[in-house]
Amino acid sequence: MSTSPGQPIDPMDPFTPSPLNQLLYGHVYSASVRAVAVHRIPDLLADGPRTAGELAASAGLHATSLRRVLRVLAMHGLFTLDDKGAFALTEAGEQLRTDVPGSQHPMALLTTDEMFRRAATGITDTLRTGTTSFEVAYGVPFFTHLAASPADRELFDEGMASLSGRGAELLAESYAFPGSGTVVDVGGGRGGFLRAVLGREPALTGVLFDQPETVADHLLDVPEVRGRWSVAGGDFFSEVPAGGDLYLLKHILHDWNDEDCLRILGAVRRAAGPGKRLLVIDAVLPDNGAPHPAVELDIIMLMLVKGRERTAPEFEDLLARSGFRLNRVLPTPSLPSIIEAEAV
Ligand SMILES: C[S@@+](CC[C@H](N)C(=O)[O-])C[C@H]1O[C@@H](n2cnc3c(N)ncnc32)[C@H](O)[C@@H]1O
Repeated sequence: MSTSPGQPIDPMDPFTPSPLNQLLYGHVYSASVRAVAVHRIPDLLADGPRTAGELAASAGLHATSLRRVLRVLAMHGLFTLDDKGAFALTEAGEQLRTDVPGSQHPMALLTTDEMFRRAATGITDTLRTGTTSFEVAYGVPFFTHLAASPADRELFDEGMASLSGRGAELLAESYAFPGSGTVVDVGGGRGGFLRAVLGREPALTGVLFDQPETVADHLLDVPEVRGRWSVAGGDFFSEVPAGGDLYLLKHILHDWNDEDCLRILGAVRRAAGPGKRLLVIDAVLPDNGAPHPAVELDIIMLMLVKGRERTAPEFEDLLARSGFRLNRVLPTPSLPSIIEAEAV
């Protein structure tokens, strides 16, 4: 039997686009995104549409292969393809340029990196053993690996910093930060969020606390916050800087299991006197099992670390066991919510 182009495709045909196929081909899409990100194709489209042949000539690539990869990504919304064979960036594709504010290029390189891919492959065994697949693949916990591998740490820190672009601004706008006093960002990465917070409050000072290798590459040296920050390197399981009026834990607790969270919160509580505030900034899962974007992030946690995304009652329980009272949970226009707590 011959198939004419106009004939409807049987929805049960295994080659028909379907929710199952979307899932099965996920690694194909992410490998394709990685390829164009590594070769910086989006940068080459900054000035307007170009054909695969032109792009390949500029980048020193194989034109036919590039055209095929761009074509599948065009089908999935990163590029458009016109009838003359020219590709252009969509709004989503623009985010993969390296020179745009809030560029997701570093995040694309991180999430498609070998660290994530090897960890993802191990999920089958994680279902059997419960062991974090990154640890099985690499023999050490994720953050231990990063501390010993400068190139991977750089990749991770840059990916995190890229999340702290527009996302940091949205979060900083979502909370009435105090006009004076000191904010301590515990596990604050390179300080993108602290910089956004200090940028909004001209009399506020800040301390960026993270592992020494990470704070060494901090982003705080900008005119808007000059003279109002300091950095400290250390281990948040042992001790965090004392004397803060407000402590921040942004995207920290979801990296750890309950026992480790209690150790981190314990160190914060020892540094923060009664009445001092703590903002835990993490996704808050609905407790009725409703779909939420952080359910995907939760699988990244399952693969890489011993942590997980949590519901509001789960955060409240951890906080109460560490000497904090949960005041309120503020949704934000970004993925995470702000969980405000007070030391009791
Ligand atoms: C998921 S990142 C979040 C970074 C930043 N708060 C943000 O939201 O972009 C977790 C951070 O925890 C830091 N970290 C991990 N273990 C640590 C430790 N034992 N002491 C201090 N910081 C640590 C990492 O270096 C990393 O910057």
